Amino acid sequence: MITVPVSLGDRSYDVLVGRGARHRLLEVLPVGVARAAIVTQEGIGVGVDAGHDQRTFHMGSGETAKDLETVQDLCRQFSRWGLTRGDVVVAVGGGVVTDTAGFAAAVYHRGVRWIAVPTTLLGQVDAAIGGKTGVNLPEGKNLVGAFWQPSAVLCDTEVLETLPPREYRSGLGEVAKYHFLDEGEALVDMALDEKVAKCVAIKAAYVGADEREAVGGPGAGRRSRALLNYGHTLGHALETAGHYDLRHGEAVAIGLVFAAVLAARLGRIEGARVEEHRRVVAGYDLPTNLPPGADAAQLIDVMGRDKKAVAGMTFILDGPCGVEQVADVAVADVEAALKEISA
Ligand SMILES: NC(=O)c1ccc[n+]([C@@H]2O[C@H](COP(=O)([O-])OP(=O)(O)OC[C@H]3O[C@@H](n4cnc5c(N)ncnc54)[C@H](O)[C@@H]3O)[C@@H](O)[C@H]2O)c1
Ligand SMILES: [Zn+2]
Repeated sequence: MITVPVSLGDRSYDVLVGRGARHRLLEVLPVGVARAAIVTQEGIGVGVDAGHDQRTFHMGSGETAKDLETVQDLCRQFSRWGLTRGDVVVAVGGGVVTDTAGFAAAVYHRGVRWIAVPTTLLGQVDAAIGGKTGVNLPEGKNLVGAFWQPSAVLCDTEVLETLPPREYRSGLGEVAKYHFLDEGEALVDMALDEKVAKCVAIKAAYVGADEREAVGGPGAGRRSRALLNYGHTLGHALETAGHYDLRHGEAVAIGLVFAAVLAARLGRIEGARVEEHRRVVAGYDLPTNLPPGADAAQLIDVMGRDKKAVAGMTFILDGPCGVEQVADVAVADVEAALKEISA
């Protein structure tokens, strides 16, 4: 078992990574807990034993279940069961479950402790780490939420065996991202447990430096949490456009190659580094080009509305000092880069 600390002062916690990590639940349970509310989805089939009075609450699947109605349902069921402020919520599932149950934990009784047991690769390397919890509104994704750190995270790599292959590959899109946020070469060759632990450690470093993603101001400088969105500007635009049938990690994969091509056009990186992006992404069996028939004008329009756009078109781009936020990128360069990654 690999232990990765997330250092946040009195909100610090450990992430345990390895086969069978879910069986360590009793050990990481906060003191004083009498009851554990397990939140999961039908079909995940990952059981946990809190060693205390526990009850399982099922929520729906997909982005549409990640909403305020589900939060209300969960909180009402917690209340009827008698869950108190001293108890714990255990979220067992992918990012949809950990985001929703984590947010329910953040608001129930003004905050109860929670533990994440992420069961997707994306959840283990990204969604369950860092304390961002929240749900969607009809007006947009993740519009309501809270920073609410878990007491522990158990990344059990054994449970990934039942994950549909496409979900697994989607998680690899985030793994590819971490390659470029760190001296990545070693990451490619690591075995699964070490790979997950390394990704967690990289994310933990950013979260530790910039827990609440400081807006404006000098922020956390080289370790701004916003940099975790590398590859996501085009990735989100492809998802928002809606008609490309891409999983999140697939959209991010294309976004990573796009960001590299754009950075090269701006003279920030060499061609060899662009090739490295293509090689890493393709090595995870992820797409390196835009889907056929992609509408560049629409993508630019959506990217212009990206919430990270502060001045002109803003991107997170690689460069001589590593990945950083770059503002005022000319639309002509964006167009040219999109053309370069057209299938
Ligand atoms: N909070 C954050 O920092 C953060 C970061 C990244 C993503 N997210 C959020 O995460 C969500 C996406 O998460 P996801 O990709 O894990 O999708 P998901 O939670 O929808 O899970 C994908 C599917 O796999 C199923 N599944 C989960 N574990 C399984 C297992 N072990 N075996 C078989 N099936 C299993 C789920 O039931 C679901 O149908 C999005 O809502 C996104 O906004 C949050
Ligand atoms: Zn992502």
